[in-house]
Amino acid sequence: MKLVSHPPDLRSSLEDLASPRILVPTMGALHEGHLALLRHARQLAGKSGSVILTLFVNPTQFDKAEDLEHYPRTLENDIELCRTHGVDLLFAPTPDSMYHPDHSVTVVETALTHQLCGATRPGHFDGVCTIVLKLFNLSQPDAAVFGKKDYQQLAVIRRMARDLNVPVHIEGVDTVREASGLALSSRNTRLSERQHADAPRIRRALLAAHAAHAHGETSARLLLDLARREINASAAGARIDYLELLDAESLRPIDPVSAPAVLATAVFYGSVRLIDNIELPG
Ligand code: PAJ
Repeated sequence: MKLVSHPPDLRSSLEDLASPRILVPTMGALHEGHLALLRHARQLAGKSGSVILTLFVNPTQFDKAEDLEHYPRTLENDIELCRTHGVDLLFAPTPDSMYHPDHSVTVVETALTHQLCGATRPGHFDGVCTIVLKLFNLSQPDAAVFGKKDYQQLAVIRRMARDLNVPVHIEGVDTVREASGLALSSRNTRLSERQHADAPRIRRALLAAHAAHAHGETSARLLLDLARREINASAAGARIDYLELLDAESLRPIDPVSAPAVLATAVFYGSVRLIDNIELPG
């Protein structure tokens, strides 16, 4: 495995990487969720193609300095996981090598980012789109792999690729969970034992609404109430940041649920914010 930390070195390493080239962008602190993306990337690359993993805690997508500061950083362990999981090239740049001090051009998405994380984290998706486009330009992949846990992120990146004619195929991978149902996240390590034990209620809340929908309930208001009750029953201080039922394509509120939809939530435990979602068929 080759380790590269400067953008110009990445460009010059590309000729040694056989096609197809598959990119997995991450912010590190790698866990089983990231490893599932890597396995999917290897399937797409085949034996002879190449898998590139990027590891960069992107400052422009953090709206709170505290969140950026506390973001877990486990570089040595990440390098080892990449080595043992078939990564051909690991790109781990420093922030100052990725952004010019006077950088002034960003990608702005204007339709899919009004709801969910876009509403509560202003500027977040502009930061995500900008860094992802930069990583695409630097590594020139045939395809890139993203997790469905970040449902809105995946939708926004697909939209960016479509609208800006970015020649990269975007692939989504199902959310990897603990046995308890809690979605794996780098942020889970910041939960107290009590919060960690309580957090699977997020999944239970989404499953309760999913089951009611499967039994014929189409009122978004009732489905949201059902999920909200389960989260609000927390004795460990769970606080809903958002809980929304949206059209799966447009990410606009939908009521009744008459087309494929997504129920998505963000829940705070103290300062730790966890997200999850579930798809409801139309
Ligand atoms: P990060 O949070 O490190 O996530 C990297 C990728 O792993 C994302 O595509 C995310 O959806 C996926 N992922 C995280 N947890 C997962 C889980 N439990 N199951 C399946 N996939 C999971 O998302 C980012 O980084 C950044 O915004 C990035 C796209 C790298 C841009 O900076």
